[in-house]
Amino acid sequence: TKTYKIAVIPGDGIGKEVVPEGIRVLEAVGAKFDIAFQWDEKDWSCERWQATGRMMPEDALEGIRGHDGIFLGAVGWPTVPDHVSLWGLLIPIRREFRQYVNLRPVRLFEGVRSPLADRAPGDIDFMIVRENNEGEYSEMGGRLNKGTPDEVVIQENIFTRKGVDRVLRYAFDLAQSRPKKHLTSATKSNGIIHTMPFWDECFAAMAKDYPDIRTDQFHIDILTAHFVQHPDWFDVVVGSNLFGDILSDLGPAVTGTIGIAPSANLNPEREFPSMFEPVHGSAPDIAGQGIANPIGQIWSGAMMLDHLGHPEAARAIVAAIERLLAEKGPRTRDMGGTADTVAVGKALADLI
Ligand code: NAD
Ligand code: IPM
Ligand code: MN
Repeated sequence: TKTYKIAVIPGDGIGKEVVPEGIRVLEAVGAKFDIAFQWDEKDWSCERWQATGRMMPEDALEGIRGHDGIFLGAVGWPTVPDHVSLWGLLIPIRREFRQYVNLRPVRLFEGVRSPLADRAPGDIDFMIVRENNEGEYSEMGGRLNKGTPDEVVIQENIFTRKGVDRVLRYAFDLAQSRPKKHLTSATKSNGIIHTMPFWDECFAAMAKDYPDIRTDQFHIDILTAHFVQHPDWFDVVVGSNLFGDILSDLGPAVTGTIGIAPSANLNPEREFPSMFEPVHGSAPDIAGQGIANPIGQIWSGAMMLDHLGHPEAARAIVAAIERLLAEKGPRTRDMGGTADTVAVGKALADLI
């Protein structure tokens, strides 16, 4: 039996409700495929911030640097300003552990009604590769003349050649491994005059190394429209940190609900642990009711198994999700059902 040490960070809100279901399903698949987990649970959260003034202890990241993975729920709660909670926990993990790829699949499952009429499952099945370490998410800038009529706020965007090239490389390699071999770049080089023309140049230069990949690019504004009107056009979509963030809520919404969307914050070189978390947040509007959809968390667990080198175990989880949805098994309200979080988690564990 192979044992993996995983840091578990339920975090805030529905994170605390969906993480146990993720663990339930990982345990079920582990029993079947002879994989064991040592769960190292952390209370890093807004609650902790209120008690101690920090989202996580000062030496927190040192303590999990050698772990095999990080399984996170969601971070953020209305009692703590979002920039404090997120820059105190989620973003430092992504950066310290050089998780520069945020991989987010988008797929319409059989048995799920897309809000876009007449879309069949094969029509929506693509991957978003989001740059996860730099770009529009930067701490550079500042606020001058605060509170006066002359107030000025400046936010710098940071795009480094290394940072852009490494995420593009990942996206090209991913496109290369897929049957359609098609890569789309999200840009805005008509309006963002320094960084986006640079992004386009890097993209065009790298495309030369991949002659059999079909490439195209769209400005982010029309790209959001194409996600709704032509989701079948996409195979792999690569974007900067902010563009990737926006596209990765839109894509899953087009497949019915963001409640099923998973993500992998990857350190492709495996120098550090990677982190697996659903795309959604802590959902304060439904937290505490036990009705959150756990599929995004559970599918994130499948992505973790894939990364750890267990593609068959990962596949078993995705197959269970496919069956549950196709066979009209229990589903939560965001998918038109009445089941609660635990019922969906248990049904998936049983299918495994
Ligand atoms: P959200 O994703 O938490 O919620 C948006 C809407 O989607 C809400 O109506 C919510 O009820 C619904 N929803 C989300 N997940 C669901 C699920 N699993 N099942 C059913 N419905 C679901 O986004 P928000 O409201 O913008 O953010 C709330 C908090 O979460 C904020 O503090 C935000 O910063 C944080 N956040 C954290 C992460 C993360 O940890 N990675 C991601 C996004 C938002
Ligand atoms: C996500 C979230 C985070 C992000 C927020 C909460 C900082 O929206 O993981 O998509 O923008 O990266
Ligand atoms: Mn987001």
